[in-house]
Amino acid sequence: MRKLLLLITIFYCMKINAQNQIVLNADKGKDTINKNIYGHFAEHLGHCIYGGFYVGDDNKKIPNKNGIRLDVVEALKKLKIPVLRWPGGCFADTYHWKDGVGPKDKRPSMLNVWWGNVKEDNSFGTNEFLNMCEMLNAEPYLSGNVGSGSPQELSDWVKYTTHPNGSSPMPDMREKNGRPNPWHVKYWGIGNEAWGCGGNMKPEYYANVYRQYVTYMTNWSNSDHIFRIASGASDDDYNWTEVLLRDIPHNMIDAVGVHHYSVIDWNKKGSATNFSEEEYFTTMQKAMLMEELVKRHAAVMDKYDPQKKIAMVVDEWGGWYDVEPGTNGAFLFQQNTMRDAMIAGTTLNTFNNHCDRVRMANLAQIINVLQSVILTNEEKLVLTPTYHVMEMYNVHQDALMLPLTVTSNDYKMGKEKLKAISASASRDKNNVTHISLVNVDANNAQDVSIDVNGASFKTITGRILTSDKMQNYNSFENPDKIKPAAYAGAKLSGSSITLKIPAFSVVVLELK
Ligand code: AHR
Repeated sequence: MRKLLLLITIFYCMKINAQNQIVLNADKGKDTINKNIYGHFAEHLGHCIYGGFYVGDDNKKIPNKNGIRLDVVEALKKLKIPVLRWPGGCFADTYHWKDGVGPKDKRPSMLNVWWGNVKEDNSFGTNEFLNMCEMLNAEPYLSGNVGSGSPQELSDWVKYTTHPNGSSPMPDMREKNGRPNPWHVKYWGIGNEAWGCGGNMKPEYYANVYRQYVTYMTNWSNSDHIFRIASGASDDDYNWTEVLLRDIPHNMIDAVGVHHYSVIDWNKKGSATNFSEEEYFTTMQKAMLMEELVKRHAAVMDKYDPQKKIAMVVDEWGGWYDVEPGTNGAFLFQQNTMRDAMIAGTTLNTFNNHCDRVRMANLAQIINVLQSVILTNEEKLVLTPTYHVMEMYNVHQDALMLPLTVTSNDYKMGKEKLKAISASASRDKNNVTHISLVNVDANNAQDVSIDVNGASFKTITGRILTSDKMQNYNSFENPDKIKPAAYAGAKLSGSSITLKIPAFSVVVLELK
């Protein structure tokens, strides 16, 4: 009898251990998930712009409008991309915008010194980018040249793009170039990676340079406020954030950036598709470090800005591997597997959960570069697993974040461990609640139970992104190998939800 009792107790404990518990506080939401957390980044790098977005005004082979690929526009509209950062990256601090406006046959060519020394003919410039953002219904985010530019050049760019016609020579130039009315350009980056390719500056020096540049970036009117984003820290350089928050008057800054890539080792990044479970685990460790980076940069910001007026903008994030064999090493073209879906799902959960401070993020980069949502090859186009995660998660855009606590099983590798389950939740303006969950465990499905406080639901549905191998990807030959499917595995019983999430999978639940 005693033996039997012992066995029952062991069995019961094992069951508890094997259960992941989430408590959803559906009545405690106070912060909105800014849709710009679902933002993207496009640099003049490899085939992001040329061949990705833009195929030339005279292209008869690939359907386009003024050179902009229509298949790309259609796919990105479905994704609801809210904001697009351009023209770099490191390229931005070598870019002189006046080279890229006016008649195309008069535009000078330059060498793209950061990315392979290829010829940049400036055929895609300011007008092309801003018109394209209008086609995409996305807000532009222009990254200004601080490293090799001047305050005058950036001030002129603001006037060229946003000031009304007839107000000064720059809007006159815009009108001559075929665009009488200003575009809506709210988001401005004051340089990029000023600690590195953007000028190798120290934070104290950059803070001064920043103050000088923004002095001449003139809003046209108070209602059309310019949102100024300071070039932010690399990874865990908390001192960078500290100096900027301390030395820049807060009426001169709206946001500070942070960049973090999930890279195994900068000298040995490994293949994007042919990787071991150890490499997968290390990538996920790097990706899940985002939680700590956001928390610790936020803690520094809280010290100087307790009212959270200044936003954190993670304007570069994503996985970075070796380029695909046979492609130009400087073009950063990599495939995208279920590992990337795990990076996207966990990182977006982190951003959602910290939306009180993180108000924009830009995945690097949108097409054909690093962790892309779209890959193109001539007229062919592939939507990556990362695209599908972004699409499944777009239900959170501008929804009220609902706080939750997650008690998760560990996913172990030797002596190291990660939390297997990550989650975030929100309620949209139609009163529909969404919970996004990721199981990063490479080997085990995870049972999850969710206790809901402060709301009751009648129905539950869901979608899942899963595949039988984490190295799987969508290729030009098999573009639909991985795509979201309906998920009926979640059971709702009173205020309790139970579900099983397969290994390395993403689930988004919808509750009404
Ligand atoms: O996204 C590629 C590069 O990574 C960007 O140009 C730069 O800002 C970062 O170092």
